[in-house]
Amino acid sequence: MSCTIIVGGFFGDEGKGKVVAHIAHKDKPVIISRGGVGPNAGHTVKVGETEYGVRMVPSGFVYPDAKLCIGSGVLVDPRVLKSEIERLNVRGRVFVDYRCGIITEDHIARDKGSAHLAKKIGSTGSGCGPANSDRVMRVSPQAKDVPELKEYLLDVPKAIDDALKQDQNVLLEGTQGFGISLYYGTYPFVTSKDTSASQIAADNGVGPTKIDNVVVVFKAYPTRVGEGPFSTEMPAEKSDAMGIMEFGTVTHRKRRIGGWDGAMARYSAMINGCTQAAITGIDRVDKACYGITEYGKLTKKAKDFLKQAEDDIGCPVVLISTGPDVSQIIDIRDEK
Ligand code: IMP
Ligand code: MG
Repeated sequence: MSCTIIVGGFFGDEGKGKVVAHIAHKDKPVIISRGGVGPNAGHTVKVGETEYGVRMVPSGFVYPDAKLCIGSGVLVDPRVLKSEIERLNVRGRVFVDYRCGIITEDHIARDKGSAHLAKKIGSTGSGCGPANSDRVMRVSPQAKDVPELKEYLLDVPKAIDDALKQDQNVLLEGTQGFGISLYYGTYPFVTSKDTSASQIAADNGVGPTKIDNVVVVFKAYPTRVGEGPFSTEMPAEKSDAMGIMEFGTVTHRKRRIGGWDGAMARYSAMINGCTQAAITGIDRVDKACYGITEYGKLTKKAKDFLKQAEDDIGCPVVLISTGPDVSQIIDIRDEK
């Protein structure tokens, strides 16, 4: 049994939520625990006709048999968390590490009101930057100081360790993407923390020797929201004409679209310690691949793209997403 980390390889919004949901249904983890910055992240998961957007609850919530945890590294906005728990009807399954940093109204006001953060960096305005700054200054409240969070508190690293000792599967879910890591991204146009796999392990209090797999999710056509360099960006007219248009889950801003970036994929796979790669949006490389669930049925154009991607990444591509629904995926983890 194993501990798997799932992270984004480009600038976020690679489709991690969908990959997490798929792996959860197949591998049946007892715990799905979130790392990453906080409610600046938005994941979209589509099941049948319903599309869910989540910012605090792990996107693995669609798999009903796992405990859903938020690791101590993550910032919690109690208002966002409570409303999601109600909307998704997951009360009783959600646990928050008692050491999580808390986002207050003041943090949100400072994020939205700062010309530097809101305008120059293009932050999401969710208060994460100021909250992490207060956390570093050691003046931020923790989850255990917030009475409304009392019923959710847990020692998340201990719960994960117990599950691993009992030979169960655990999924650690990353947020954001490699390109907006505070350490390795396009500084200063980055988020307020590292976003690589090591950080996701640390966010959940899981030591590096306990990690078995690192799945890095790449998108065939990467996207970026907010400001900052994006070397393969294409003019909006071009991506619009290709029928590729995306809007942010949190801010609803139009995402910038780019072409495949092999050099970035390779570097990102290196720092993340990638063991397995996932590619989403293969139906954008060739529309004929939409909804396909068997590798053999992919077109030559798609297979050529995947071959190139695999050479760039330097890891086997074992998960290929062919559409937004959780069921629209090719899983060849057992074959590689
Ligand atoms: P902040 O994390 O809200 O401070 O925003 C800093 C930068 O990171 C901005 O360009 C945001 O658009 C970007 N960002 C933060 N979280 C995400 C995410 O989950 N997906 C994509 N971009 C993000
Ligand atoms: Mg997102």
